[in-house]
Amino acid sequence: MASPTIKLNSGYEMPQVGFGLWKVDNAVCADTVYNAIKAGYRLFDGACDYGNEKECGEGVARAIKEGLVKREDLFIVSKLWQTFHDVDKVEPITRRQLADWQIDYFDLFLIHFPAALEYVDPSVRYPPGWFYDGESEVRWSKTTLQQTWGAMEKLVDAGLARSIGISNYQAQSVYEALIYSRIRPATLQIEHHPYLQQPDLVNLAQKEGITVTAYSSFGPTGFMELDMPRAKSAAPLMDSPVIKEIASKHGKTPAQVLLRWATQRGLAVIPKTNRPEIMAQNLDSVNFNLDSGDLAKIADMDLNIRFNKPTNYFSADKLYLFG
Ligand SMILES: NC(=O)c1ccc[n+]([C@@H]2O[C@H](COP(=O)([O-])OP(=O)(O)OC[C@H]3O[C@@H](n4cnc5c(N)ncnc54)[C@H](OP(=O)(O)O)[C@@H]3O)[C@@H](O)[C@H]2O)c1
Repeated sequence: MASPTIKLNSGYEMPQVGFGLWKVDNAVCADTVYNAIKAGYRLFDGACDYGNEKECGEGVARAIKEGLVKREDLFIVSKLWQTFHDVDKVEPITRRQLADWQIDYFDLFLIHFPAALEYVDPSVRYPPGWFYDGESEVRWSKTTLQQTWGAMEKLVDAGLARSIGISNYQAQSVYEALIYSRIRPATLQIEHHPYLQQPDLVNLAQKEGITVTAYSSFGPTGFMELDMPRAKSAAPLMDSPVIKEIASKHGKTPAQVLLRWATQRGLAVIPKTNRPEIMAQNLDSVNFNLDSGDLAKIADMDLNIRFNKPTNYFSADKLYLFG
């Protein structure tokens, strides 16, 4: 089973269905990546912040060593954390992340969040997280997104990243990026599920030739793993009568409907699962079509509820990134 691909504005082909690596425990991460490659995944969505890039690299190295895939068959995505936005910090941390993955280029490297925090040396703490002291102190950096983007462009020039993109930007910062970019963002990765559809943002990106990748396609489910109260109080999308009815009409699972709802509208998806038996099911979610009635019913489910924002994680009254 293979995923269809989307041609990015950088000219590279990106698998439309990939595998998310957030919350994949270190102890099982290498096996999970290896099993996902066996199941047919070729895109892996990682990040410094997930704290498991070394183990991801071990899984990839094992699959390559056993001849399951070659490096060029894979599409490896990683992200720049906020504490590395200062221009002189971008290339060194990218090189460290590449070394963790045991590769010499990323297929796609994203600015994880549009916010610059003061540098924390990896020897102090890695991954550094949101807080300067590791507990509660927020220290902003004075580096602008434009300056950081310039350093991202240099990664492409140096052959360390083939494509570069952005994540968690809202329309205002996308408009700005379109003005100052020498290399346009290839993708915009955002939280996107029936409870948070962001149609204007998706339309803007697609109109500008920026491919949108949906993260947390299952809505609250991914945040239940973190015991997030906001997620626990939301009705699980997979139990939604609307989604279940559409799933049974097409002989698919609710998860497949949630993924297809995004891919049919031109977005890429990156579901995460720790369960090998579920990997194939999520990958095999592109071989049916929702009809216009299904799409209209799902459009009606939008509640504009965002789960992935710092104020949902920290009781501290700071980091109002989506304000
Ligand atoms: N750019 C960003 O800021 C950002 C933020 C969040 C996420 N992401 C990326 O997006 C990826 C996906 O998002 P996510 O991890 O939040 O959540 P998700 O993929 O929406 O959901 C994962 C949850 O759904 C369960 N699940 C997966 N497939 C299922 C199926 N077919 N049936 C029933 N349950 C299923 C998983 O449980 P099991 O593991 O037990 O199967 C897990 O609890 C992340 O891993 C990460 O790579 C990026």
